[in-house]
This record gives sequence, C-alpha cells and structure tokens, in this order.
Amino acid sequence: MRIGVTGASGFLGQRLVPALGAQGHNVARIGRGAEADIRWDPSAGMIDVARCAGIDAFVHLAGANVGERWTPAHRREIRDSRVYGTALIAHTIAALTPRPRVLVCASAVGIYGDAGDTVLDESSPSGSDFLAEVGREWESAADPARQAGVRTVHLRFGVVLSRWGGALARMLPVFRMGGGGRLGSGRQWMSWISMEDAVGAVQFALERETLVGAVNAVAPSPVTNAEFTETLARVVHRPALFPVPAFALNLMFGEMAQGTLLASQRVIPRKLLAAGYAFRHATLEPALRAAVNE
Ligand SMILES: NC(=O)c1ccc[n+]([C@@H]2O[C@H](COP(=O)([O-])OP(=O)(O)OC[C@H]3O[C@@H](n4cnc5c(N)ncnc54)[C@H](OP(=O)(O)O)[C@@H]3O)[C@@H](O)[C@H]2O)c1
Repeated sequence: MRIGVTGASGFLGQRLVPALGAQGHNVARIGRGAEADIRWDPSAGMIDVARCAGIDAFVHLAGANVGERWTPAHRREIRDSRVYGTALIAHTIAALTPRPRVLVCASAVGIYGDAGDTVLDESSPSGSDFLAEVGREWESAADPARQAGVRTVHLRFGVVLSRWGGALARMLPVFRMGGGGRLGSGRQWMSWISMEDAVGAVQFALERETLVGAVNAVAPSPVTNAEFTETLARVVHRPALFPVPAFALNLMFGEMAQGTLLASQRVIPRKLLAAGYAFRHATLEPALRAAVNE
C-alpha cells in the first residue's frame, strides 16, 4: 500500500515509518517541516492535496505534546492541533478518488478521564476532564472520512514505553540515579503499551478489515503507579524511595499533573484481543526490560 503518515517525525512515527517500509509499503511522510514528503499546515487548513492522490491508507499521529505545562495557549494547541489536523485529513480523504481504504488515527486513554479502579473497555463512557473533552472532539473530527465510507479506527494509546522518548525517557534518568518513587498515592492505574506493540497495533489496524471505531491500544495488564514504580526500580537495579506527593506534582506541573500523572485509567484491549492481536509484551516487567535495554 501507499500509506500517508502524519506525525511521522515524532516519537511513534519514527518507529512506525521504517516498520511499514520493512513490510513493503510505500510511505509518504506528511508534516509541517521541509523534510516531509507531503507538506501540510493543520492550523491554516492547508495540505498538498495533489500529492495525496493514490494514497491507500492514512495513519494520523500528529498532535502537540501533552506532557508539557498546560498554559492556556498550550491547552489550545493540544486541542486545536488534534481537532483541526484530524478534520483536515478526514476532509481530504473524503474528497479523494479513489477513496483510501482506511484511516488509522491516534487517540488516547485520556478519553476515559480519571476513572479510579473501574476496568475500562471500548464501551466505557468517556470522562469529563480536559483530555477527555479533547479526545471526544479529536475522534469526532474524523466523521467526514467515516461518512465517506472509509473504515476509521481510533487507537486509544496508553503510555508508550521506549527509552527514546515519551514518559519513560523522562523517568529513566531519575530512576537510574536511585531518585525514583511513586507519584501521589501510587494507587492510580497506568495503562501502558510497549513501542513494539504500539507499532504492531497500527499495522494490525491497517490490515484487519473487521477492526473499526475506538480500539484500546494498551497491554492487557495495566498496573498501579506503585507497581510501575517498583517494577522500573527493579529493572534498573535501584531502590525507589522518593515518593512525590500530589501537591508537589501540582506545583511543578500545574493541571497537567492531575490530568496525566495522577489520573487513573485501568484500560483493557478488548477489541484487539477479540480480533486476534498477539501482544509481544503482555506484562510489564519484560516490556520494561526490553524498553530500557533497546
Ligand atoms: N507517546 C505516547 O505515550 C502516547 C500516548 C497516548 C497517545 N499518544 C498520541 O499518539 C500520537 C503520536 O504520539 P507521539 O508521542 O509520537 O507524538 P509526538 O512525538 O509528541 O508528536 C508527533 C508529531 O506531531 C506533530 N506536531 C507536533 N505539534 C504539532 C502541532 N502543534 N500541530 C500539528 N502537528 C504537530 C509533529 O510532526 P511534524 O513536526 O512533522 O508536523 C510531531 O512529530 C499523538 O497524537 C499522541 O497524543 C501518544
């Protein structure tokens, strides 16, 4: 297939693009920078439509980073980059002849809000906090592609584990110095997925015709933050004796702390498992060992 990938320059995209190439696909990187094969500017509603002709499938990963302090301007960017970007891709797809076969969009488990110990699958209701609202708007923005009859999948990713980026890259230096510790009470659930499975889930969603709509892209064994902390400390052979109280996280990171680090999402990948996806990393310790040593 010829596959258009937005956010190809990012944490996930940099691993996905070579993996798709290795499967024999022809990848067109859609991005805002000069290195992109197809230029776009979601904030201006601009995309090089002529170069989108002949694309069979789109993978849409682009969006402003959520792990930075949520100033009012950054909150707007988190939302607008996702909603405008998705709408632009979906309208572009709807206008293409022949129609692409599939649109795989990134989404996030943040759509479930702060849900305590409740086990969440794709039929669970979304939450009411900022990221849940963004998640709903982000997924709805793909409606034009859906209405044009294009199979549309929203991969609701948990924390993607790789030492090369995302949350783990920020935690690792602290844990390696023996300065790790649980966040807040440590009772909040973390839904995670290895980088290999994050890439695998995108590849699976592209191919598996029966997969449609919201699909949780998380390993089948979410853990509490306390268990995550203990496991990571064991993997790097250091103690984790420095819990960070919630008020300190709120002071350091503002609202972002409550919305991400302290929010609880105990998510299971019901649809991926039912469709026959085989996880490379189904439990945390081997996943962390692989991520830390890759
Ligand atoms: N990483 C995780 O643990 C995780 C967890 C849950 C959900 N997700 C979601 O999965 C997607 C990919 O994650 P990632 O970690 O690979 O993301 P990332 O590295 O932070 O960013 C992906 C790409 O988005 C584009 N981008 C950044 N800011 C933008 C803006 N303001 N407007 C338009 N495009 C912008 C950039 O591409 P160009 O500069 O080339 O345009 C960037 O390389 C994201 O939507 C993210 O929310 C990730």
